[in-house]
Amino acid sequence: MTNSANNPANNTTERTELPPILECKGITKVFGSGDTEIKVLKGVDMQLRPGELTLLMGPSGSGKTTLLSILGCILSPTEGELVINGQSTKGRNAEGLADLRRKEVGFVFQSYNLFPTMTARENVMLALDVRGSRGDAIKQADAALRAVGLGHRLEAYPKKLSGGEKQRVAIARALAGAPAVILADEPTAALDSENGAAVMALLSEVAKDPTRAVLAVTHDHRTLAYADRIIRIEDGRIVDQRRNKDGSMEEREIHVAEAA
Ligand SMILES: Nc1ncnc2c1ncn2[C@@H]1O[C@H](COP(=O)(O)OP(=O)(O)O)[C@@H](O)[C@H]1O
Ligand SMILES: [Mg+2]
Repeated sequence: MTNSANNPANNTTERTELPPILECKGITKVFGSGDTEIKVLKGVDMQLRPGELTLLMGPSGSGKTTLLSILGCILSPTEGELVINGQSTKGRNAEGLADLRRKEVGFVFQSYNLFPTMTARENVMLALDVRGSRGDAIKQADAALRAVGLGHRLEAYPKKLSGGEKQRVAIARALAGAPAVILADEPTAALDSENGAAVMALLSEVAKDPTRAVLAVTHDHRTLAYADRIIRIEDGRIVDQRRNKDGSMEEREIHVAEAA
């Protein structure tokens, strides 16, 4: 390894020069009309960088879930443009947006959203391309579950899993289709602090892939140590955006340099 690769500051420069995995410009969202009209997002510009875990923080009602839904192509913005992995949402109809979502986005929710009548493996298989063979799908699902440390729980039903394990299945499902973007909405809110920390550590591991970006909504300040970047939203506007400067950040930069 060269000296420059040892220097976190140099790596920071290199990595910020890579094009963003996701970029949005001038995103607004209005719900309702006339007297009931409510402007929830008021011009949001942001970027998710390759190999980074970004935290989106802000008070309840500030527009976090709405923004996440737009970034994940579940919801169309009223105005503004979104580019995911080089592909714009401009001019796409609902089907075109759904295609982009299926190919490029994996979701993780607070409430896990697992099907109770399906095993961990079957839940993950749901996220895979249905055109492939069943044998291939099983192999991919099992690989994703092993990657999140659940190789021993492949055939377990959700009710037999702890909250932390359920969220790891959900992360495996989000990863299974190899999306460029993982979006997690308060993924630790239903977990105790130990399991919450394990889920954040896993998401930060997942984010180390240089072809991927991870965004997690949280208002849990204990998750800050895992973040590469922190974005703060208030009343539909981004009010602060910064790189995390604590020790875990530098360690992570060095790790990436070694892997490269
Ligand atoms: N489908 C909807 N119709 C009308 N208002 C909505 C809708 N979805 C969200 N809102 C409103 O938008 C605001 C932001 O909601 P949300 O994005 O869920 O905030 P957060 O996730 O930060 O708590 C809230 O005032 C909420 O009531
Ligand atoms: Mg929310």
